[in-house]
Amino acid sequence: MLIAQLSDCHVMVDGDEAAELYRTADRLNDAVTHLNTCVNRPDLVFLTGDLVNYAQREEYVLFNEIISKLEMPSYLLAGNHDDCDLMREVCNTHTYLPKSGPLAYVVDGWPMKLIALDTNLHGKPQGELGSDQLNWLEKELAKETKRKVILFMHHPPFNTGLTTMDEMELIDAAAFGDVVSRYDNIDRILCGHLHRSIQTNYKGILTQTCPSTSHQVHLLLGEANELGTVREPPEYLLHYWTEEDGLVTHSDYVKQYPVIWTLKDGVQ
Ligand SMILES: [Fe+2]
Ligand SMILES: [Fe+2]
Repeated sequence: MLIAQLSDCHVMVDGDEAAELYRTADRLNDAVTHLNTCVNRPDLVFLTGDLVNYAQREEYVLFNEIISKLEMPSYLLAGNHDDCDLMREVCNTHTYLPKSGPLAYVVDGWPMKLIALDTNLHGKPQGELGSDQLNWLEKELAKETKRKVILFMHHPPFNTGLTTMDEMELIDAAAFGDVVSRYDNIDRILCGHLHRSIQTNYKGILTQTCPSTSHQVHLLLGEANELGTVREPPEYLLHYWTEEDGLVTHSDYVKQYPVIWTLKDGVQ
């Protein structure tokens, strides 16, 4: 099983300065073309939130048009920039999205149980799961006795040292931590939101954030932190599962870089 995780594509329609500065729709188009044509072709794709920038209908229409070109199944999560009702309405071919309530769901049919959570707190930069969703998560974890689980969510439950981003936090992280601590079947928690590749050991579980298909957040840690974006390359994550070795994660660039040397060129 090979899962591609794209995140924080922040699709915007033409017409304002930010759209011109970031060209996010072009960047997502590049990512879709890359996944359709690359050697390491994924079986499925998760997009971990901030699908669009201003939560506008025309952005979702554009986003949906681009993502429809993916030649493998794709699964959408809500981030703080998203509007869950518009996601449901415009991306209506994504029939796994619940018709009401949080956009939380299970993707089955794979060697790991894949659970998507919804941290969107309408109109706020922070995230929240809420007690109903946490109860649902607990039930899903309790009934999975055979396979390991991957949790997908937009807001990470840990602080990163990027202090201005950390303020846009998962406000019920403590309650989430209590739930996941009660289960030993969670292999990975995969998040977005930070626009950087960051890993930590959270409650004994490898927990990480995915870079953006568009712009990355400036790496300024601790007191040096000031919120800003940098033109580092668009990136995504590839989560590679085999029976022998379990889940291993690679980060990859959307751009294809030239190969400098291969074994058949001879020993150097
Ligand atoms: Fe974002
Ligand atoms: Fe976000």
